Amino acid sequence: MKLFFSLLLLLSTIISLSRHCIARGGLWGSVPSGLNTSGGASHARHLFEDHQTQSQTSTFDLSGGYMTNSDLEMAIKDFGRRCSNISRIYSIGKSVNGVPLWVIEISDKPGEEEAEPAFKYIGNVHGDEPVGRELLMFLANWLCDNYLKDPLATLIVENIHLHILPSLNPDGFSLRRRNNANDIDLNRDFPDQFFPINENEDARQPETRAIMNWLREIKFTASATLHGGALVANYPWDGTQDKRTNYYGCPDDDTFRFMASIYSHSHHNMSASTEFLGGITNGAAWYPIYGGMQDWNYIHAGCFELTLEVSDNKWPKAAELPVLWNYNKMSMLNLVASLVKTGVHGRIFSSVDGRPLPGSITIKRINYTVRAGKHLGNYHRLLVPRERYEVIATMPGYKSKNTSIWLDKGPMTVDFILDPEVSVKGAVLQNIYDCNCSTKCKLGFVEFPWGAHLEVCFVLILILGFICFYQRRIRVNSVGPKRTAV
Ligand SMILES: *[C@@H]1O[C@H](CO)[C@@H](O)[C@H](O)[C@H]1NC(C)=O
Ligand SMILES: *[C@@H]1O[C@H](CO)[C@@H](O)[C@H](O)[C@H]1NC(C)=O
Ligand SMILES: *[C@@H]1O[C@H](CO)[C@@H](O)[C@H](O)[C@H]1NC(C)=O
Ligand SMILES: [Zn+2]
Repeated sequence: MKLFFSLLLLLSTIISLSRHCIARGGLWGSVPSGLNTSGGASHARHLFEDHQTQSQTSTFDLSGGYMTNSDLEMAIKDFGRRCSNISRIYSIGKSVNGVPLWVIEISDKPGEEEAEPAFKYIGNVHGDEPVGRELLMFLANWLCDNYLKDPLATLIVENIHLHILPSLNPDGFSLRRRNNANDIDLNRDFPDQFFPINENEDARQPETRAIMNWLREIKFTASATLHGGALVANYPWDGTQDKRTNYYGCPDDDTFRFMASIYSHSHHNMSASTEFLGGITNGAAWYPIYGGMQDWNYIHAGCFELTLEVSDNKWPKAAELPVLWNYNKMSMLNLVASLVKTGVHGRIFSSVDGRPLPGSITIKRINYTVRAGKHLGNYHRLLVPRERYEVIATMPGYKSKNTSIWLDKGPMTVDFILDPEVSVKGAVLQNIYDCNCSTKCKLGFVEFPWGAHLEVCFVLILILGFICFYQRRIRVNSVGPKRTAV
């Protein structure tokens, strides 16, 4: 019976795929071969133009081969059915004209809270910049097709919760203009750090409110919005206090330059930019904007957001979309994967009962706080690799702990176990469940050179963990923290 359903599913997938080939006017598989091979991109462009002529005669072409809003909705729902094992479809609200703002979450455990970082991609913030919404559907489908086949796809699906909102501004798209149906630029509609604009939440656009509520619900470690009209990876700050066009870095300037470079370096044309050194730019150094989504994400949502300009031409011929996907593919994947391939990660626990704590992580000399997850106490701190850092964990009611680390090229796990503070009256808050041994374990690990001897370290953790656990069992006969060490 199960086999029968699998076959049925496979059949319907093949049918829906072949339907897409016709409707979208050009997937890789349907490119005719053996044509003029005089040169890279232009060659591909000619191929797709040929193909488009073909499809125009046979099917509809209302928006020049781009997905209409209902095509996009259908594509998202088809995706949800086809890839239900690694995805979940949900809406974060509606546009002014009532179009649902659909999101695809991709993960091996979609919708479940895990101690993993989350990334979000948002496309089509500006209605007349539709390349992003198409690229994001390419991305989702590529991940689904390559999960358990390609190591990068598998890494992303298994270790990250990737949320994709292909279109934030479907009304602007159907009106073929930048602003939403109320003629408001959504990338100027967020509260600003310098100027009191958009302070009244009820006066904000429904699309903006949807994003703000979304970020109250889900903790994203990093994100990117896809725009068009230039070719560059833009990072905070976007605005300056004096409204002048000047480089104005945020506390995490180095981290952001590193992130933006990950995108740019994987993109041949972007990294070769003659306009922007290395294909990246500080927003304020380019042109200051106020009420933007990027700065708001960093300040209020703990989310490191980039603004990616992915194509000089805002509305290129639809036949070029697969070429643009090819240009951006590795950049899009590498940026998401960087959440687990770099940075400091870990969890914060209470030494009293091993309970995860929703504490905070700061890095000495960087004036920025990353909050740990409310339920799992997990934190994910992006940082420039190959540097020494002092990581500080805090939690109200607990004593802060700090540790000095050398962050190598790869990621690093640093867990913290915090002891409760002694109350003002001198009464010790620690109760009978407290276990001193975890402190000992921790001390032993503070200065341990992690990157160099991972295996040794792992074995030591296992042994110490076992000892801790065992001692604890004997003393208080209760289950202690799952992980110890720094
Ligand atoms: C192949 O490309 C060259 C150079 O772009 C052009 O001169 C020639 O006409 C093309 N041939 C065909 C068959 O399209
Ligand atoms: C990208 O770079 C290639 C090779 O340098 C060039 O031929 C092509 O026109 C560029 N494409 C875009 C969209 O900039
Ligand atoms: C740190 O940042 C906050 C705003 O997030 C600011 O109010 C404060 O003055 C900054 N502190 C330092 C030492 O720069
Ligand atoms: Zn834009």
